[in-house]
Amino acid sequence: MEELNGTDLPVIDLSLFSSKNVDQNQLESHEFNKLRQACQELGFFLVINHGVDATLIQSVECRIRDMFALPAEIKNRAIFPIFNTGYGPSVVDDVAKDSIPENMSFPWDHLLPNSVEKISAKLWPQGNPAFCEELNAYGAQIKELSHRILKLLVWSLGVDVSSQSASELFEKSFGNVRMNYYDKCTDKEMISKAHTDVSFFTILYQDDIGGLQIRTKQGKWMDSKPLPGSFVINVGDILQMWSNGRNRSAEHRVVYGRSNRNRLSMAYFFDLPDEFEIRCPKEMIDQEHPQLYKVVTKGDTVAYFKKVGPNMATPQHFRLQ
Ligand code: OGA
Ligand code: NI
Repeated sequence: MEELNGTDLPVIDLSLFSSKNVDQNQLESHEFNKLRQACQELGFFLVINHGVDATLIQSVECRIRDMFALPAEIKNRAIFPIFNTGYGPSVVDDVAKDSIPENMSFPWDHLLPNSVEKISAKLWPQGNPAFCEELNAYGAQIKELSHRILKLLVWSLGVDVSSQSASELFEKSFGNVRMNYYDKCTDKEMISKAHTDVSFFTILYQDDIGGLQIRTKQGKWMDSKPLPGSFVINVGDILQMWSNGRNRSAEHRVVYGRSNRNRLSMAYFFDLPDEFEIRCPKEMIDQEHPQLYKVVTKGDTVAYFKKVGPNMATPQHFRLQ
């Protein structure tokens, strides 16, 4: 695997791909092969030259740090009785010796429409238009990036982007941004709960503190060192199922606590609504690749997640044999 600037993950340069169409030559190019291999072997890669404004990212990071610095009684006002929406205080599991970081989720155009305005109104009743404006601008830019990445993922699997199977991904998907805030404990190391993402794929911004680890096929924990200016992309459970097991939704976790600053990450889950049927395209099934998973809805996978908690067994649970 290639090494670049101290990171362990394959780096995909998005400026090398045309956004319009691809021909057979491009599909067999070095960059496409690298992407395909990253999705199949590791389930994680980095993207650079992604088009999201660096100044905006920096500014949003400051605003989110300020948000988490609010007193607990204010943040608690942003708890919503909707899955993956609003504030979640940190949870430390003393038995399993792991944790869930403090988090705040903004489901963009689903679950809770205008979630940025609604959540910010709970935190700042006097209003915070700059927070809303910047966060919405960030969401819009990441959404655009997510569609570029989806196109590449679909192409890399040899599926026609204008097919019914692919078009419905573009039409029905929505984004949910989850901000994670990991406490500096300084005296001890903490580990967040290992899990795979229930998303189709995830676009993750992490600050410069580091700590993200990915479980390789060989079962080893591998460090993913932050590469300034990049986003981490990972295959989620739904993509693993949609690709009939070709792409790998990898287990990951964060080791943190020893820094003198709290660690911040912003995960954009490229997601599908509960009624979406996870049915792999016909191109994914042949003699060599018999259908691996039952056709279930996204809601079925969420129900399983809610039952067992963060886990690494969702696709396995829905296997046919
Ligand atoms: C997540 C996640 C990793 C990180 O939010 O699902 O895995 O670096 N986050 O915070
Ligand atoms: Ni995750």
